[in-house]
Amino acid sequence: MREFAERGADLELVGIQKRFPGFTAIDHLDLTIPAGSFFALLGPSGCGKTTTLRLVAGLEEPTQGRILIGGKDVTDTKSHERPVNTVFQSYALFPHMTIIENVAFGLKRRRIGDALPKAHEALRLVELDHLAQRKPQQLSGGQQQRVALARAIVNRPALLLLDEPLGALDLKLRRQMQLELKGIQEEVGLTFLHVTHDQEEAMTMADTVAVMNKGAIEQMGAPAQLYELPRTTFVANFLGQSNLFSGEVVDTTGEAISIDAAGSRIIVPTSRAQRHHGIVTVGVRPEKVTLHRDEPEHAARRNLIGPGRIVDVSFSGVSTQYIVEIPGLGSILVFAQNVGIGPIASVGDEAWVSWDVEHGFGLEDDAAAPERFSADDSTTAIAAQHREALVSELEDR
Ligand SMILES: Nc1ncnc2c1ncn2[C@@H]1O[C@H](COP(=O)(O)OP(=O)(O)O)[C@@H](O)[C@H]1O
Ligand SMILES: [Mg+2]
Repeated sequence: MREFAERGADLELVGIQKRFPGFTAIDHLDLTIPAGSFFALLGPSGCGKTTTLRLVAGLEEPTQGRILIGGKDVTDTKSHERPVNTVFQSYALFPHMTIIENVAFGLKRRRIGDALPKAHEALRLVELDHLAQRKPQQLSGGQQQRVALARAIVNRPALLLLDEPLGALDLKLRRQMQLELKGIQEEVGLTFLHVTHDQEEAMTMADTVAVMNKGAIEQMGAPAQLYELPRTTFVANFLGQSNLFSGEVVDTTGEAISIDAAGSRIIVPTSRAQRHHGIVTVGVRPEKVTLHRDEPEHAARRNLIGPGRIVDVSFSGVSTQYIVEIPGLGSILVFAQNVGIGPIASVGDEAWVSWDVEHGFGLEDDAAAPERFSADDSTTAIAAQHREALVSELEDR
């Protein structure tokens, strides 16, 4: 594997903004991805992930900001001069070429010696060398995706960009490929920038996850850190699920803040709360919450809310998901492991829920945050011009 063991490069995005006619796709993006890391950019469709990759690959020019790869400013260099390769969701192999020809194609075109041995080496890495003489249509979707990966890796890019590369695969194959891709990254030591809208995929594969929302990064960190301590409403709801409560801080000690949420007292450790005064939103993950059929004794260091009514029970084998409607607090989601036989409560039952104070978190925004972008006059004007140009072009035909 020596062939591929070259180190990846750092990627730095400094103050990147990207405006399209009528639309700001990237707001103000600052990001440093250390060499050799597996970095995931996670966000919903339309948040600017592909645009970010296209900027790094040199397929789009930023409106503002600089892009550095391995410490070198590449903002003004052409796409093919950057040490970058991209694997897309649609892997588009050449159908008339064999697998080995597909993988060797880029090397041959650049007149790099030993193209075939290098291509075989890359195919061995994705465990497909035995199919080297086949044509793409004789391979399954998952195998074709692995060929696309080999075709990118064979160029030994310092930086490999992956744009939802597993999106077209079925769930089981997807999970398998996630593990394989992670293994390959560890083996080749290149820097991987992986883009996905699948939170489970991002968390399983990446060392670091950046959660993107509307063209900006909301929070970045190790998967467990992001999950256990989300800082914004968006992250709390996009990365897993959360029970959120808003209320005024009525008591603060060095150790904890207490909020009054519709008459219930909820305590959060000060160190886990982003804000300590005024109206704040606090939360807890559904698997940290315990469901009670009878009112439990008040325990120190535990939040207790209720009573409410169970409005939904959904049994899924290993666990049961309960929804408890508590007056003034809304629906509370509880995930309970089925340690006994079957669900412990039914729809219509009275219930309380409790959780360890240490498991709560306090957010920096309010659950009803305003939109980040408003209509932009100058870009709207450019959009109108583009539309006119397009219309006249169509009329000319
Ligand atoms: N060439 C373009 N012109 C105008 N708007 C664009 C262009 N490319 C992308 N966009 C817009 O920018 C936003 C981000 O797009 P994209 O980066 O493809 O999102 P993602 O990959 O996260 O789904 C979308 O709202 C999209 O419609
Ligand atoms: Mg995309």
